[in-house]
Amino acid sequence: MKKILVTGGAGFIGSNFINYILKTRKDVFIVNLDKLTYAGNLKNLTGVENHPNYTFIKGDIVNDELVRYIFQKYRITHVINFAAESHVDRSILGSEIFFRTNVLGTNILLETAKYFGIEKFVQISTDEVYGSLGPEGQFEETTPLQPNSPYAASKAAADMMALAFHHTYGVPVVITRCSNNYGQYQFPEKLIPLLIINSLNDQKLPVYGDGLYVRDWIYVIDHNKAVELVLDEGKIGEVYNVGANTEKRNIEIVKLVLKQLGKSEELIEFVKDRPGHDRRYAINSKKIKKQLGWEPDYSFENAMRDTINWYIKNEKWWKEIISGEYINYYKLQYQA
Ligand code: NAD
Ligand code: TYD
Repeated sequence: MKKILVTGGAGFIGSNFINYILKTRKDVFIVNLDKLTYAGNLKNLTGVENHPNYTFIKGDIVNDELVRYIFQKYRITHVINFAAESHVDRSILGSEIFFRTNVLGTNILLETAKYFGIEKFVQISTDEVYGSLGPEGQFEETTPLQPNSPYAASKAAADMMALAFHHTYGVPVVITRCSNNYGQYQFPEKLIPLLIINSLNDQKLPVYGDGLYVRDWIYVIDHNKAVELVLDEGKIGEVYNVGANTEKRNIEIVKLVLKQLGKSEELIEFVKDRPGHDRRYAINSKKIKKQLGWEPDYSFENAMRDTINWYIKNEKWWKEIISGEYINYYKLQYQA
């Protein structure tokens, strides 16, 4: 039985991971440590609260005493560190919390893993650590890190610390660097849920700059299947890129959402660009395909259609976020 500390498991990707893994496997026990920031939402985990192989702890990865207590109490054998401040625009407004959670928090998890000794530490990183591409080429695992936003810089610093802990102390670290995710339970500050929800509300769709920025999109379940493979079979000390070869210009995504929802392109509003905006991301995932046999299962067209339908059907989920109601839900259930 793997006893896995999943951090940030109430966020978008972490909650999808927990829902998926508890549905598909019996050989894991999950301790979900999440601070429940604005991005953490326990409603993402409705249905697993009482699962015998799951427990939730509200807390901060920067709290070293709490982290030590969890490792000891649950005899943690594996860590998957999803916890992060994850939004580039917020990091531009204020970088301190990004440094605290993404760098210091990862450092505390690594120190604790070193102290107790574990079997594997999976650090969930991002393709944004590589910086921006011109019109040609792709990020490979050997591409030098050149992060541009405070978010990307904090993630790159965490990666470097994780690799240093492996090199110096033998902590069994593996890193995944994935491209832009989309799917159910994504917080509506990120492009795709924001477009869907604004369209449904007949509100303007803000497109930064010329809208020709390129992102390489992957469905969240495909990402999480890669995380699962890395957890089971990833080679210690290695970095694995994860992406589904789905480059799209932002404006193409905007038009696709409007089309599926039968809304007018008059809702499009070109707005002031994000400072330091990375032009293009494209990820080469040959290594994980060749070494671990990973392949994405979902086509962009089908998974986007399902994602849009999910937001249509789950209006209550996002309306509570927009109204701020879900914050009260946490306060009632989990006093700090
Ligand atoms: P998210 O913002 O939806 O969720 C982050 C979660 O971490 C939230 O539940 C939040 O409450 C929790 N958290 C934040 N600070 C914490 C702290 N100090 N202690 C404990 N918990 C804390 O983010 P996401 O989109 O699910 O991303 C998860 C991970 O995947 C991040 O590490 C991110 O860098 C990485 N990533 C995201 C994408 C993407 O497209 N979203 C792509 C590649 C990599
Ligand atoms: P985002 O979802 O914030 O992810 P990231 O910046 O980490 O790639 O943004 C995806 C792309 O969409 C990025 O090029 C910025 C752009 N964007 C907009 O044009 N309008 C928006 O309102 C948002 C949130 C993003």
